[in-house]
Amino acid sequence: MDDEPVLESGFNGLARAQPALPASWYYDPAHFERERAEIWGKTWTYLCRAETLDGPRAFRTFQVGGQPILILRDEAGELKGFFNTCRHRGSILCPAAEGRLDRPMIACPYHQWVYDLSGRLRATGPMRPVAGFDRAEHPLLPVAVAEWRGFVFVNLAADAPSFEDTHGAETAYVANWPLEELRIGHSYSKTLNCNWKIFWENYNECLHCPNIHPELCELVPIYGRAIMARRDDPDWQAHAGEDAPHISGGLRAGAETWSMDGTAQGRLPGLTEADVAAGQRYVTVPPSVFIAHHADYVRTVKITPTGPETMELSAEWLFHPDTLSRPDFDMERITGFGTLVMEQDGEACEINQAGLRARTFRQGVLMQEEYEVFLFQDWVRGQLGEPMLGEPPESRASRRAEP
Ligand code: FES
Ligand SMILES: [Fe+2]
Repeated sequence: MDDEPVLESGFNGLARAQPALPASWYYDPAHFERERAEIWGKTWTYLCRAETLDGPRAFRTFQVGGQPILILRDEAGELKGFFNTCRHRGSILCPAAEGRLDRPMIACPYHQWVYDLSGRLRATGPMRPVAGFDRAEHPLLPVAVAEWRGFVFVNLAADAPSFEDTHGAETAYVANWPLEELRIGHSYSKTLNCNWKIFWENYNECLHCPNIHPELCELVPIYGRAIMARRDDPDWQAHAGEDAPHISGGLRAGAETWSMDGTAQGRLPGLTEADVAAGQRYVTVPPSVFIAHHADYVRTVKITPTGPETMELSAEWLFHPDTLSRPDFDMERITGFGTLVMEQDGEACEINQAGLRARTFRQGVLMQEEYEVFLFQDWVRGQLGEPMLGEPPESRASRRAEP
């Protein structure tokens, strides 16, 4: 890293073209394992909404960075997380994807070791006591769990920092959204033939928007200019007083939310006029999720790598119970729009992935507008212990937050 600034200071942009990540990082199996350990094994990863772990003894199982994970609620309703692995000889403890334990115990399906919901080993099935064995030395292996405003996250690191310390600054930006009260109205899931980083990079730039997302560009006029926010324009100060949506980043005149026709169905309680006028606000918790906040609903988009060149894309649309019970509620008007945009992105990501293996293509290049892609890629470098090319961002949301 030399002394030349990487980022422009007067507007959002790269001061100089930057090398993209090595192409092999998008398909090499050994590199994929490294990312699983160093990135997915050490960051707060979104799992599910808290409502899907409803009440004492509810459980769900997940794969996080290739690791089997069990999340459950104890008798007091508190979330607990463990590796889904028995301490006897390593069997999976809970083979089911979800369910409710019929007693406050977990029994291994193999030889019936039994653990209580705090992870203590309470019984060893048919095995007789034997010298050199102490139950207290074989509890379940814990993982850190955080429940943030109705979203459940897990961190596999032994010394995980708190979710609040890591992501608190960014999440303050959507404090007015009644996130705890929201319920899942619809969900979507699709396998994409691309490396997980390809999806993140696509999400972090709008150079593709005019070409790939005509409907979205009509709704969010600034995207039609291939930028994401007011300050992405080198001349933004000349238009600092203008509030037209193609300058401010808000929705087209008359539109209230991201939906097929731009109309909203009610408004979430607690939002200010500024919250609504923003059109969209994002909370980004890399590497697993971004959460898009709108006037009448919230959408999660979750990324789960399933191999070097495959990932699962899943989305949830969260609504207020009052909205869900409206007699005229038309969910499809909202979910259809987000699905359209995600399918367009998915196709673009698969096209991107398909070209990366050209033998003489070593790495791409990032242009001025791709500052967020750069920050994401530099974050990846940092997580992997590779030299970073710029400064880590203070808050990833800040640039798009205040256009
Ligand atoms: S592996 Fe679980 S009891 Fe034997
Ligand atoms: Fe896109």
